[in-house]
Amino acid sequence: MPKKPVNIGLIGAGRIGSFHGETVARRLVDAELVAIADPAPGAAANLAAKLDVDASYTDVAELLAHPGLDAVIIATPARFHTNVVVQAAEAGKAVFCEKPMALTLADAERAVAAAKSAGVPLQVGFNRRWDQAFAEGRAAIDAGKVGTPQLIRSLTRDPGPFGADPDRIPLWTIFYETLIHDFDTLLWLNPGAKATEVYAVGDALVRPDAKDKGFLDTAVVTIRFDNGSVAVAEANFCAMYGYDIRGEVFGSGGMITMGDVRRSSMTMFDKDGVSNDTWRRDTDHFIHGYTAQLASFAKSVREGKHFAGATGHDARQALAIALACIESVQKKAPVPVK
Ligand SMILES: NC(=O)c1ccc[n+]([C@@H]2O[C@H](COP(=O)([O-])OP(=O)(O)OC[C@H]3O[C@@H](n4cnc5c(N)ncnc54)[C@H](O)[C@@H]3O)[C@@H](O)[C@H]2O)c1
Repeated sequence: MPKKPVNIGLIGAGRIGSFHGETVARRLVDAELVAIADPAPGAAANLAAKLDVDASYTDVAELLAHPGLDAVIIATPARFHTNVVVQAAEAGKAVFCEKPMALTLADAERAVAAAKSAGVPLQVGFNRRWDQAFAEGRAAIDAGKVGTPQLIRSLTRDPGPFGADPDRIPLWTIFYETLIHDFDTLLWLNPGAKATEVYAVGDALVRPDAKDKGFLDTAVVTIRFDNGSVAVAEANFCAMYGYDIRGEVFGSGGMITMGDVRRSSMTMFDKDGVSNDTWRRDTDHFIHGYTAQLASFAKSVREGKHFAGATGHDARQALAIALACIESVQKKAPVPVK
């Protein structure tokens, strides 16, 4: 007998919310997008019309009361995440929350506790884990092929040109929202290890004019782990050649590298030499990973327990590194990770 699809509601119909909504509506076979909520006038209704969804709301509580709703995807700006996670869990809905799940450790723990006490799955949007190269890297580590990890790297270079207004970017975004992906990746590629100490350097090299307001667009972080390994994470908001995401694990048995800025193996040979096109958007580069993470979330909803992917606790551990980075930049010194 065919199984009933999982009924999902989308909270936040901005850039990534619209993409996740489209993934549920168009790319998943066992889930249905049944409702969308966004307080911005017209945002939910416009996306609902585009994706053939019947219900749209401007209020999260109304979406949570939508008949038959099983689960929600939270894609609001970061500062709202924790309260919405708690509200959805208390309403008995399974929760997929975009990163960062929280901006303080107290909030991260509050979100984890709410999901636990409601008995609902809570998955966080660390999509790099679902990219094929990164997943194969983790499988090689699990198979012992890399040996004991010694040096680990992860980098995020967002595609240029940088066109955003630094005044509209919340302080410390480079750690809370950009490098948090790398912190989760580094923890995930170093299974069982705990980050103990962080030293972070941040600067505004893309927009030096915004530096005196605290804006940072470039950062390098050194992380020590309790198994002796050392990691480096780096980020920059303006890679003129494309969207560049890479990882590397060097261990006692060998090395793995993951990620390629080239869009495909199609290589152009012409009068100018040899060239490749590159990724320009996260939603192009990681479309398969973004889809796989939501397919897995739908499976968790169906089974009533977390199936795979980053948990609320994983999000708390990545956040602890981000918070240590902020403290390290302020103190210009290494700081312990809580
Ligand atoms: N995993 C990834 O690769 C990835 C990529 C992009 C963004 N993100 C994360 O997703 C989140 C959203 O990013 P974005 O770029 O889509 O932002 P956005 O500003 O484009 O969209 C946010 C939307 O949320 C709505 N909103 C605001 N408050 C709300 C509330 N209380 N309830 C419901 N909706 C509300 C806004 O009106 C807006 O439409 C951020 O936390 C960001 O870090 C993750």
